[in-house]
Amino acid sequence: MFSNVLATTGLLAGLAINVVNAIPTIEAVGAKFFYSNGTQYYIKGIAYQLTDADPLIDADQCKLDAASMQTLGANAIRVYHVDPTGDHSGCMSAFADAGIYLFVDLETFNTAIDPTNTSWNQTQFNAYAKVMDAFQSFDNTAGFFIGNEVIALANQSLAAPYIKAAARDLKAYRNSKGYRNIPVGYSAADIAELRPMLQNYLACGTNSSESVDMFGLNAYEWCGNNNMMTSGYNTLNTYAQGYNIPIFFSETGCNTVQPRTFEDQSAIFGSAMNDIWSGAIIYEWIEETNNYGLISYGPEVAATAVATNVVAGISRAGTPTPVTPDYANLHSQWETLTPTGVASSAYNTATLTPPACPTSTPGGWLVNGDVKLPSLGQTLSTGASGAAATGTPTSSGATPSSTKKSGSNGGKEIAGMSAGLVGVMLGFMYWL
Ligand SMILES: *[C@@H]1O[C@H](CO)[C@@H](O)[C@H](O)[C@H]1NC(C)=O
Ligand SMILES: *[C@@H]1O[C@H](CO)[C@@H](O)[C@H](O)[C@H]1NC(C)=O
Ligand SMILES: *[C@@H]1O[C@H](CO)[C@@H](O)[C@H](O)[C@H]1NC(C)=O
Ligand SMILES: *[C@@H]1O[C@H](CO)[C@@H](O)[C@H](O)[C@H]1NC(C)=O
Ligand SMILES: *[C@@H]1O[C@H](CO)[C@@H](O)[C@H](O)[C@H]1NC(C)=O
Repeated sequence: MFSNVLATTGLLAGLAINVVNAIPTIEAVGAKFFYSNGTQYYIKGIAYQLTDADPLIDADQCKLDAASMQTLGANAIRVYHVDPTGDHSGCMSAFADAGIYLFVDLETFNTAIDPTNTSWNQTQFNAYAKVMDAFQSFDNTAGFFIGNEVIALANQSLAAPYIKAAARDLKAYRNSKGYRNIPVGYSAADIAELRPMLQNYLACGTNSSESVDMFGLNAYEWCGNNNMMTSGYNTLNTYAQGYNIPIFFSETGCNTVQPRTFEDQSAIFGSAMNDIWSGAIIYEWIEETNNYGLISYGPEVAATAVATNVVAGISRAGTPTPVTPDYANLHSQWETLTPTGVASSAYNTATLTPPACPTSTPGGWLVNGDVKLPSLGQTLSTGASGAAATGTPTSSGATPSSTKKSGSNGGKEIAGMSAGLVGVMLGFMYWL
């Protein structure tokens, strides 16, 4: 009897936990995200990459961070690199319990599409599919990125069909496995000479099986007390008008004016932009030498220091301590910014059409229209090394992420850099 009672209690407790864990899934409909209950979802996200390999393994650490992020008002994280063989269940439920969704990159340093010696091959496909397999079952997985800042120059634009080919194949894989319709998208560097062609190209065409499901822009244009005009956001807004898939800032948070006040958030979540944009992911959670952090786990130590959880002079685990006053500044922005958007039942997608595929121009965008996509295994050598070039960041002198990262969530550093510099950066990231 007693054991029966216990078993019943255990079963009930288990059910109760399941109920607590339940989180509505997110889907992309037209140009917006919705919770499965029909309420529009706006991303209030944080870039989260405490370690190179995978920050979603250590469940205790995730619980500490998820609690602090919930206090901050976040409802999403972005993770750049994961190990698909790891056990992510503890971290994913810690974030789910805090109402936090995951946007995760499918590529790693070894498998990312290279814009200068370009391939989309079976090795890459298998690696991306393994990450999808590992995360698709979690209700709080909100999106997959097929690449991050793969292209950083107009003369690398011939690699864009390879990005679309990767999206095509991972979407087909998702569907063939009967996985939830988790959006597969791309996260772009904010490069003036590629705007708006790349954004339009990835979404264009008559066959939606061959285009991306969402588009993220990594933009550092709005610094300090800029406004729509001085930041250039009005231009971004113009380009995004009428776009047929969700568009959002997959990184933002200029730090050239200190302390950071995150005033762009009031534009993104306010009437100026919230009808067009689906939110923003702030770069980044952990304070590193590049000074973009919202929290730290302890004071910086010598880069050569050897200690538990210290890599490159930065403590990468423990109780998160807010960076002052940036964390509080972001908190006070977000707590007043709660757009309701539109209910899915009232949202008319019939008027949405994909943008036209851009035509090529000499010395500019090089992909002419809706070209046939490469097949798996196809390669391209453009030789567009972009030696020493970093693209053309727009306005404000804000550094695009292709030049600023030296911390653990790299990958993006590589785009547009010379091979030599990439070597230096990789050495820095791994061995400092
Ligand atoms: C839908 O779910 C979200 C997230 O849990 C919640 O904020 C929202 O209020 C819900 N909407 C409705 C109509 O219940
Ligand atoms: C596939 O592409 C990756 C990434 O560019 C590359 O490292 C690898 O050598 C390629 N594999 C084959 C078999 O070509
Ligand atoms: C280009 O990539 C292929 C593998 O996909 C590799 O065999 C080749 O050496 C690379 N070429 C250059 C110049 O890096
Ligand atoms: C759309 O694209 C998919 C993937 O390439 C392909 O299998 C399908 O046949 C295409 N549909 C049409 C109508 O062309
Ligand atoms: C690509 O463009 C960059 C910047 O405009 C330039 O520095 C580089 O030489 C170009 N590469 C090629 C192969 O044309």
